[in-house]
Amino acid sequence: MRQIWIPRPGPPEVLELREAPDPAPAAGQVRIRVEAAGVNFADVMGRMGMYPDLPPMPVVVGYEVAGRIDAVGAGATEDWIGADVLSLTRFGGYSDVICVPEAQVFMRPTGMDAAQGAAFPVNYLTAWQLIRVMGSLAPGETMLVHSAGGGVGIAATQIAKKFGAKVIGTASAGKHEQLRKLGVDHCIDYTREDFEPRVRELTQGRGVELILDAVGGESFKKSWRALAPTGRLGMFGLSAAATGKQRSWLGFARAALSMPWLQFTPLALMNVNKAAFGVNLGHLWGEMDRITGWMEELLRLYREGTVAPVISGRFSFAEAPKAHHFIQDRKNFGKVLLIP
Ligand SMILES: NC(=O)c1ccc[n+]([C@@H]2O[C@H](COP(=O)([O-])OP(=O)(O)OC[C@H]3O[C@@H](n4cnc5c(N)ncnc54)[C@H](OP(=O)(O)O)[C@@H]3O)[C@@H](O)[C@H]2O)c1
Repeated sequence: MRQIWIPRPGPPEVLELREAPDPAPAAGQVRIRVEAAGVNFADVMGRMGMYPDLPPMPVVVGYEVAGRIDAVGAGATEDWIGADVLSLTRFGGYSDVICVPEAQVFMRPTGMDAAQGAAFPVNYLTAWQLIRVMGSLAPGETMLVHSAGGGVGIAATQIAKKFGAKVIGTASAGKHEQLRKLGVDHCIDYTREDFEPRVRELTQGRGVELILDAVGGESFKKSWRALAPTGRLGMFGLSAAATGKQRSWLGFARAALSMPWLQFTPLALMNVNKAAFGVNLGHLWGEMDRITGWMEELLRLYREGTVAPVISGRFSFAEAPKAHHFIQDRKNFGKVLLIP
């Protein structure tokens, strides 16, 4: 098999293609011949040595793949053989062959190709948890989503529109036209204007009911202030700590220190009628039953045409460094994939 390794923390050029014998599926596992693998911002943070969950280097990252099953381990259902699937992978997704527990694997609906399959799990499950499970977005409410043109941002917009909400999105200016086509009601170029007063202006001073924020740092504070009474802030990342393409402890410290450490105390929460919650899909491996339920609902929405990933870039394994540059240069509108 071929895999992309991170041998040490560094810029995208540290990514290294290596070969190894094909793995055999262990008990309860299936083996997938990978046709597309998703690239996530967590992989970028991992490459820089700024992702706390990363196993020790050298390591193969990657949380999601799509492809065809060609073997099953003892006890796994034989019927999987030959199935076209999408799958969550607990690291190791940057591979052209991978073995995973069968509970993490889902049949791809008719018409969903491998690229769409690999673009689906992380972005859509995260957006679902933020909006439907914990954020309780109701029809008529307004959601603000940061990095609206990223994989999660687009998934969140599609889900919010399906459930009758208004969407405000922050993104670099070049993405605004495409975002409007997706149904975003108001776009904010956060590089030119402060989103907090702009959100107040757009909501006649009231604020919004749900905010999805993976920028972090100072952004969490501003988002918190931009919530209407009964508003909910979903925090799920710290992109602000990625100040360059190599690890910067200074950048991390700045982002960490500017977080709202003192705002979410019990009395303060009661008095402002707001909620703050966190989401980390990578810490839900023990909750596969819950995730399976969310995935079934999401695949139903895919089948009915309500949600569909937007693919922004496809890179061969040899071009993996380019894929990471593409994201960090903020050029992606939607999902970036590695194609073996
Ligand atoms: N907790 C979870 O379970 C979970 C799951 C998935 C993703 N996430 C988090 O959600 C965020 C978005 O993930 P994604 O996969 O949707 O991202 P993505 O598709 O890779 O989006 C990248 C976009 O984020 C924006 N951005 C903001 N700060 C940035 C920075 N410092 N460097 C580079 N780009 C930056 C840029 O768009 P603009 O220039 O348009 O703003 C960029 O194009 C990340 O923080 C990620 O870690 C968390």
